[in-house]
Amino acid sequence: MDSDSVDRYGVIGYPVSHSRSPVIHRLFALQTRQNLQYELLQVEPERLIAAIREFAATGGKGLNITVPHKSAAAALVDQLSERATAAGAVNTLVFQDGEIFGDNTDGSGLMRDLTRNLQLTVSDATILILGAGGATRGILGPLLAAGPRSVTIANRTLSKARELADRFSASGNVSACRFREVPASAEYELVINATSAGLKGEAPPYPAAAIAPDSFCYDLSYGLTPTPFSKWAASIGARRSVMGWGMLVEQAAESFHLWRGIRPDTAPVLRQIAISAS
Ligand code: ATR
Repeated sequence: MDSDSVDRYGVIGYPVSHSRSPVIHRLFALQTRQNLQYELLQVEPERLIAAIREFAATGGKGLNITVPHKSAAAALVDQLSERATAAGAVNTLVFQDGEIFGDNTDGSGLMRDLTRNLQLTVSDATILILGAGGATRGILGPLLAAGPRSVTIANRTLSKARELADRFSASGNVSACRFREVPASAEYELVINATSAGLKGEAPPYPAAAIAPDSFCYDLSYGLTPTPFSKWAASIGARRSVMGWGMLVEQAAESFHLWRGIRPDTAPVLRQIAISAS
């Protein structure tokens, strides 16, 4: 088959060189016998819109959108899915019939990792989320849809946590506080780090009160070595502390499904990217 007939996909980010998405999508393509290519596109914020339009105009079929472009790209699409609207951000674009469809598979990727790969029960769980930025907004809808007993959002800047708690209050029991106000008695079963501090090599003042011996700690960030949050959680005695490699692979699988109509088996790919961070 000549290269003109190969469907083109890619990921746009800035920076993007560290992205594992090309490896993951190539493994999915091999596994499902799909003929496609997947490119890394480093695009500065000022060129985002032009780069997306150019990729579509030159026959591209779909894109992943990553940091820092997820909100800006949402403003460009012709049709936004319900979950992308709730998240205020897209991580997946599909180009079809001259239109751009935008979706967000991050939250459902997290839910699949938590419930299928890690076998956690989210319904009725007591959950603490650290951080109140775009990452938190992206996961709140799917988490609340699973029916947890409560979700507490703790953030350095209280107003941002409050804003999110208010926005999602119709979907469940959500409250907001500062890090230092996290109640020691709460015994959170699931503690999710959704701050971007780890990405910047910073360790925020995580609330030690949040971690009980039974707590399962999940960092949306991931790295080849333990992230500051996952190290910290393990060091103060969390039952388990994992990084978000599973969410990365699961959100990719959902994007692949949107593009190709076929859902890859994520387990071998998660094993193959060789990181099971526990
Ligand atoms: P993202 O889209 O990745 O969530 P964001 O919208 O900039 O990025 O949000 C980053 C989150 O990480 C915020 O909750 C931010 O806290 P503030 O709302 O107080 O800014 C949090 N964050 C980033 N660096 C932090 C640090 N060093 N200490 C504590 N929180 C931090």
